[in-house]
Amino acid sequence: MARVAIVTGGTRGIGEAISIALKAQGCTVVANYAGNEAKARAFTEATGIPAYCWDVGDHEATQAGCARVEAEVGPIDVVVNNAGVTRDGTLHKMSFEDWNDVMRINLGGCFNMAKAAFPGMRERGWGRIINIGSVNGQSGQYGQVNYAAAKSGIHGFTKALAQEGAKFGVTVNAIAPGYIDTDMVAAVPASVLEKIIAKIPVGRLGHADEIARGAAFLASEEAGFITGSTVSINGGQHMY
Ligand code: CAA
Repeated sequence: MARVAIVTGGTRGIGEAISIALKAQGCTVVANYAGNEAKARAFTEATGIPAYCWDVGDHEATQAGCARVEAEVGPIDVVVNNAGVTRDGTLHKMSFEDWNDVMRINLGGCFNMAKAAFPGMRERGWGRIINIGSVNGQSGQYGQVNYAAAKSGIHGFTKALAQEGAKFGVTVNAIAPGYIDTDMVAAVPASVLEKIIAKIPVGRLGHADEIARGAAFLASEEAGFITGSTVSINGGQHMY
């Protein structure tokens, strides 16, 4: 039977590429999205992958959403926690709301999804949880105390849950992407982005497919001995 995989924020950007890569690898894929209906519809039409709408930062909505996926598609074997937002600004200008939104969605979303899917994986003796962190969670980034803290938190969350899942056949790993050519990075002011790209040894932004290859590998049967690991895919920007 094909493994059931869910990708949060799975209809756009890096998440879209991961959804497509997991389907190509033979998984039955479900994409979650938060609210961009038009893009979700276009994604489903293009890929045949169903899209389910809920906010992963909302604990109850996530439990209900995953229960619906399990009833309609099957028990969840693979979770890719990709959904994330930025609310960039220097600390002295950052509102509590901008702090809280990023912590609630980017880090809280990982907890909420794991709460829904991990117990079943544990009972069935097989699972893959892949959390999308960030180079900026490893190195810090001017104007991102919220995002860097949440992404750094994801790396700690990964290592702790990996220890709990190991004896049940559940691996938990992270990917730390660098700057990838998505809408999120396109929102960085051009003059700032130019300086960032100048510091990437490979000399360019990454492509979403280059992150998806890593996620598909970590989701595979063959990756069963890799757990608690962070795979950095950043063009050499931060050698961690
Ligand atoms: N280090 C030191 N100083 C810096 C700096 C840096 N990296 N960046 C900016 N500054 C300085 C500026 O030179 C400027 O100094 P002066 O006042 O002396 O001239 C001062 O800080 C103010 O900078 P800005 O004009 O940029 O301030 P702002 O309030 O208009 O904007 C900001 C601040 C919103 C944080 C803006 O700098 C920005 O958008 N930065 C990019 C943040 C970023 O990289 N986000 C990544 C988004 S993509 C992502 O997160 C995906 C992923 O995982 C990689």
